[in-house]
Amino acid sequence: MVEKNSYHEVTFTDLTHDAMGVCKIDGYPVFVKDALKGEKALIKVVKTNKNFGFGRLIEIKDVSPFRKQPICDHFNECGGCNMMHMNYEMQLGFKKHRVKETLRKLGHIETDVDDTVGMNNPFYYRNKAIIPFGMENGKIVAGMYKPRSHDIVDVRRCHVWPKVFSDITRFLKRFLESLDYSIYDEITHSGVFRGIMLRRSKDNEQLSLTLIVNGNKVPFQDAIVDAVKERFPCLKSIMANFNKEKTNVMLGRKSKVLLGEDAIYDTLLGNEYRISHKSFYQVNPLQTEALYTKAIEVADLQETDTVMDAFCGIGTIALSLANKVDKVIGLESVKAAVEDAKENAVRNAIDNAEFHAGKVEDIIGKFKRESVDVLFIDPPRKGCKREFLDAVLAMGIKKIVYISCNVSTLARDLNILVSDGYIIKSVTPFDMFPQTSHIESVTMLEKSA
Ligand SMILES: C[S@@+](CC[C@H](N)C(=O)[O-])C[C@H]1O[C@@H](n2cnc3c(N)ncnc32)[C@H](O)[C@@H]1O
Repeated sequence: MVEKNSYHEVTFTDLTHDAMGVCKIDGYPVFVKDALKGEKALIKVVKTNKNFGFGRLIEIKDVSPFRKQPICDHFNECGGCNMMHMNYEMQLGFKKHRVKETLRKLGHIETDVDDTVGMNNPFYYRNKAIIPFGMENGKIVAGMYKPRSHDIVDVRRCHVWPKVFSDITRFLKRFLESLDYSIYDEITHSGVFRGIMLRRSKDNEQLSLTLIVNGNKVPFQDAIVDAVKERFPCLKSIMANFNKEKTNVMLGRKSKVLLGEDAIYDTLLGNEYRISHKSFYQVNPLQTEALYTKAIEVADLQETDTVMDAFCGIGTIALSLANKVDKVIGLESVKAAVEDAKENAVRNAIDNAEFHAGKVEDIIGKFKRESVDVLFIDPPRKGCKREFLDAVLAMGIKKIVYISCNVSTLARDLNILVSDGYIIKSVTPFDMFPQTSHIESVTMLEKSA
């Protein structure tokens, strides 16, 4: 029996899916944050459950050669970058291993997995951040939530945001303080300013800022817009978002344009895209280009192919491959994203792509008579609904390219496809989210003859 508050000398033999070190004390697994596989350490057990416990690192006795000093001042308090204490080689190896092991354990699939495709510079890569604001000891704080909490870490500089995001956040904190602005308090559901959303296009020339408030208007709206625009001329769009709900979801349903238009523009693999401020857009544009290139390459597209892009967002996959095939059909549930996709087709003079609004599981039936040669699937973290996969199986599509941001739901969905006769041709992890344990991957499947 392992007692809470007891001390133990342990060796870490594995890492959990969220990169905690795993050790065993008399067969009882204990998970320890920031410990690395292979390290020996003194730990204190801080929580015990029936089947496993949690510990805290007290002293590392034998330091892993893969350990690295995190470059961020906030590493110990922030919930964002849980792998910054590993060197990049280990981060990439961890992701490959997790994909292979999760497919084996949850999907009952034994398959080779390629090396993870990493970044040359695995920092400052995000093109979007939602940043909560709060008050602490009479001062405005803004940044990231602490792990499993809604306390805000006051981030001076984040190393996965572009530098300009930290600059705008700091500027707004000071400016709102000078106005003695009312800041939202999540516990009492009082106060006005909840936070901001920032988006940036890849070439860094366009930036959008959304001011999120608890109310129907932004107090001192003109003063804020004028000040922030003067200091950051690259801001092409400033929006207000109104969220009066008692919720920790930051963005509300209603928005209003305060400057410019409700979107920014970005280029990806040679096409230009309109991204309206609430549409999904991949957060790491360099890796997105690498990932799409791989997905298109493994699909081995033919000029006569009809392709379906399910969960198409603003149409980026469909439009990146449209010139290689006869026809593309995009399906997406968010109407604004479908409107963006249609406009993006026109913007890029692409006339063989059509886009349809609706949940894929509800509308795929309409296309059962289309002879789809290749299906791209790129669902959110929860993966695909069973009804959707059943409809896909009934269509007998020859090739499926499954792009996933959650290896657990990927394993579940691949199990269904493989059980029905699909063969996995390749699995390639992509490091879309360096310094974190999130894993993106591209899996190519072909229907067995
Ligand atoms: C991971 S994103 C992929 C978007 C796009 N393929 C890209 O690379 O930018 C998933 C998309 O699926 C959409 N979505 C979520 N659930 C859906 C559903 N049941 N049916 C259709 N689209 C859905 C989301 O709005 C989002 O645009």
